[in-house]
Amino acid sequence: MKEIIEALNWRYATKRFDPSRKLSNEQIEILKESLRLTPSSYGLQPLYFIVVEDESLREQLMEASYGQRQVLEASHLFVFCSHTNISHDHIDEHANNTAQIRKIEKEATNKYADFLKREVNSMDQNEQKTWNEKQCYIALGQFLTVCAIQQIDAIPMEGFDSAKYDDILNLNERGIHATLVCPVGYRHPEDRHQFNAKVRKIQDMIFETI
Ligand SMILES: Cc1cc2nc3c(=O)[nH]c(=O)nc-3n(C[C@H](O)[C@H](O)[C@H](O)COP(=O)(O)O)c2cc1C
Repeated sequence: MKEIIEALNWRYATKRFDPSRKLSNEQIEILKESLRLTPSSYGLQPLYFIVVEDESLREQLMEASYGQRQVLEASHLFVFCSHTNISHDHIDEHANNTAQIRKIEKEATNKYADFLKREVNSMDQNEQKTWNEKQCYIALGQFLTVCAIQQIDAIPMEGFDSAKYDDILNLNERGIHATLVCPVGYRHPEDRHQFNAKVRKIQDMIFETI
């Protein structure tokens, strides 16, 4: 318990990374697995993650992020994408996957798939898009916690032009769009932000027990 709170206090939104330090493959694997294991509504996982290492792509993405240098200087750049809608094929694939993994008859998952299709049909395209984006934020929360526990520095980012990211990474044609960005790596020893005291409301302001 104490270690978790210490880790959450240790983490901060890292604005300046040490460009000479890279995360290991093993660290990246842990981060990817934490994203794969993220819970999502009905388990539909309308998400896709792109890990950008390529420097010239990162130069372009930095420009599309209002010049925020962490996009270029961090060890790796995670782009959190969400699906623009939820198709019936997507639901069928989820039902098939469930049947296969849990070794149950496909017919047993049909009813659930029909229910999900009705749920999804009750939302218009925009609502589906927003719903999917919310799943990205859940992934981000889990990701940041795992980073903190692993002493990996990170900065969650909404400050980027999502349409430009979609163009640079050719996401439109794949039915996904860039929703969040998170550079990860090691803090630069001179990043002054690491020395700032954490600003948070006190518990009394945000909790009540009834
Ligand atoms: C969803 C989200 C988007 C954010 N976008 C940016 C961003 O684009 N640029 C930035 O410098 N910080 C960004 N931040 C960092 C916040 O400003 C920072 O987390 C907050 O001030 C609390 O500070 P701490 O994370 O250092 O404790 C973002 C944080 C969140 C959760």
